[in-house]
Amino acid sequence: MIGRLNHVAIAVPDLAAARALYCGMMGAEVSDAKDLPEHGVTTVFVTLPNTRIELLHPLGDKSPIQAFLNKYPAGGVHHLCYEVEDITEARDRLVVEGARILGDGVPRIGAHGKPVLFLHPKDFCGTLIELEQA
Ligand code: CO
Repeated sequence: MIGRLNHVAIAVPDLAAARALYCGMMGAEVSDAKDLPEHGVTTVFVTLPNTRIELLHPLGDKSPIQAFLNKYPAGGVHHLCYEVEDITEARDRLVVEGARILGDGVPRIGAHGKPVLFLHPKDFCGTLIELEQA
């Protein structure tokens, strides 16, 4: 059911510093920072030949990324994003199999203008999973 790895997301305490690190020392192609108020994050995308890295920074008071950074002040891997062909079909199948979808289970528009959902880390080997309709 799942397809390509769309991106690996890393929560960072200093977005400008993380962007400069990937752009400079790592020599990667990086995007400008983009605010996603609906998700409570500011993102920078690093484009690699075979996937992307999403640098995540909290936006607003109730950002889920702030809670993560409180636990891991230096930052860390936050989630993996897998592509699926049909996000509603994927969600329904996962729910039947007993997996928990975060929030109200309704896909929202993610960082690439496509519908996304998040799956409970306890059901996926301790890893927060994002599904994105490709
Ligand atoms: Co993501």
